[in-house]
Amino acid sequence: MKIINPRNQLPYCLREMNAGDLHTVLQIENVAQLHPWNQASFQSSLDSSHQCYVLENVASDHNDKAIIVAYAVISTAADEAELLNITVSPHFQRQGLGHLLLQYLSDSFDKTIASFFLEVRRSNHQAIALYDAHYFNEVGVRANYYPSNNGGREDAIIMAKSLSL
Ligand SMILES: CC(C)(COP(=O)(O)OP(=O)(O)OC[C@H]1O[C@@H](n2cnc3c(N)ncnc32)[C@H](O)[C@@H]1OP(=O)(O)O)[C@@H](O)C(=O)NCCC(=O)NCCS
Repeated sequence: MKIINPRNQLPYCLREMNAGDLHTVLQIENVAQLHPWNQASFQSSLDSSHQCYVLENVASDHNDKAIIVAYAVISTAADEAELLNITVSPHFQRQGLGHLLLQYLSDSFDKTIASFFLEVRRSNHQAIALYDAHYFNEVGVRANYYPSNNGGREDAIIMAKSLSL
């Protein structure tokens, strides 16, 4: 599916992730995430019923190759969806792609999905600002849930938004 980024008016292609994408996805994951998923985590999502998407920039001419700029993994169960991973390649951050991807995902659920959940590190201010902008609210805290950079632990903030309105 082709989508236009309102921020820069450039076209992007959103499609399902496949095993052939994992090399590039892992390269991005390893530079973008503090505690990256490994290949087995992505493969397990691909093998399960998780919805895995990649966002590519669209080749400007026949010699260009589409480049993966972002991806996301979602799980749905009963009437709930959970965002398991959303990552924008560092070189392409702050261009509205996080907004674009999250908006598409929120709009893509069928009517049976009533709530959209996620967990985020307390220190991840960029991501929390993105989720705030998409009307997610803090609904809980898992104290000391994640290992942190300094060898300690940090809280996971659980955020949710209602999709049923
Ligand atoms: C969080 C992330 C997905 C945002 O993607 P992005 O494409 O840079 O975000 P956008 O350009 O769409 O910006 C969305 C909003 O996020 C916030 N934001 C993003 N980067 C920010 C930064 N460096 N500082 C402050 N706010 C920031 C802003 O509110 C921004 O909205 P605005 O530009 O209208 O002010 C991206 O930073 C990322 O991949 N981070 C590493 C992986 C990660 O932490 N994923 C989330 C795990 S829970």
